[in-house]
Amino acid sequence: MTEVAIPAGPGTADILRRIAVARAALDSQVVILGHHYQRDEVIRFADHRGDSLQLARWAASQRQARQIVFCGVHFMAETASILAQDHQQVLLPDPTAGCTMADMVTGEALAEAWDALTARYGPGVIPVAYVNSTAEVKAFCGEHGGAACTSSNAVAILRWALGQGRRVLFVPDEHLGRNAGRRLGLGDGDMAVWDPRAEDPAETEDPAGAAPVGRPGAPGADGPRLILWRGFCAVHRRFSVEQVRAVRERHPGVVVVVHPECRAEVAQTADLMGSTDFIIRQVAAGEPGSSWAIGTEINLVDRLAREYPDREVVFLGDRVWYCPMMMRITPANLLGTLENLQAGREVNEVKVAPEVAAGARLALERMLAIS
Ligand code: 13P
Ligand code: SF4
Repeated sequence: MTEVAIPAGPGTADILRRIAVARAALDSQVVILGHHYQRDEVIRFADHRGDSLQLARWAASQRQARQIVFCGVHFMAETASILAQDHQQVLLPDPTAGCTMADMVTGEALAEAWDALTARYGPGVIPVAYVNSTAEVKAFCGEHGGAACTSSNAVAILRWALGQGRRVLFVPDEHLGRNAGRRLGLGDGDMAVWDPRAEDPAETEDPAGAAPVGRPGAPGADGPRLILWRGFCAVHRRFSVEQVRAVRERHPGVVVVVHPECRAEVAQTADLMGSTDFIIRQVAAGEPGSSWAIGTEINLVDRLAREYPDREVVFLGDRVWYCPMMMRITPANLLGTLENLQAGREVNEVKVAPEVAAGARLALERMLAIS
């Protein structure tokens, strides 16, 4: 077990009881979706819990519910809203639950980078957006022959995209892009980094050693195959190779499993890498007595430790860190959402302008068809 417990706030028992009452009264009018990083007091009310891909598929397949209450972050609710039916509404209990990584690329910045790369290399730059991005970014990808991807299908989508054009511009997670690229056999010389904050993004130095896009002798005879946006998840970037080594010393025989948003050197030192659903499946399939160190958000790691008491499940990091955005969904604001619905008020609906939704839907539907 990890030593960390999430304290229940004052009055939580009463709030949980009222959520159960409201939820039962709303019946099939509502479906509650919950991401694995949600705290226990929230995810226990989810009708379906999953990783980003599973939740997107659930949202696309719900026909009956009039409202989808999304316990996760804004880009997930936006994705659900784009894939849902016209008669459905998607509600996010706290509209400020964003994702700091998704904020690292805008549609405008992506268009500028794509224009610059197309001017440099000619046609055939395929834009691919990690689903942790805004609808505008996905729309640009959909409208320019690209697709969206999640952590569980990034390798398949990149393989597809590299088959569509000569090179891929991957936004916004440098680490997921590099980890997926390596899985496809791309070397560091085949990848380059694009830092949108640099004075000249084409001159971005890559710590893995590839020459910047704009310099003579840039990667590959014909330029890089994969151009990685310099974005990251502040939660996953903190895991380190030293932590992997230290946990192996403390727990001989431990299996280290990390999320692909971790830096490439961490992913390479770990034993296994995959989405939140993949991580759960590994521990679930483990033998009693087996030992696991998990490099992802701590709500999920703590839950696994509690659900599999006959296995040793420890957090890879040396301090406690939550995703502060996922933590914005609380029992209190979930209760507010449900009780407002009971009173006939749909609060905090996540809506996407139809012209943006059309392009983003293209990118998401391509993703769902490929993976
Ligand atoms: P998954 O799709 O693996 O659940 O990841 C979502 C996420 O935001 C990880 O930080
Ligand atoms: Fe975004 Fe990182 Fe939180 Fe996932 S864990 S929602 S990538 S900030």
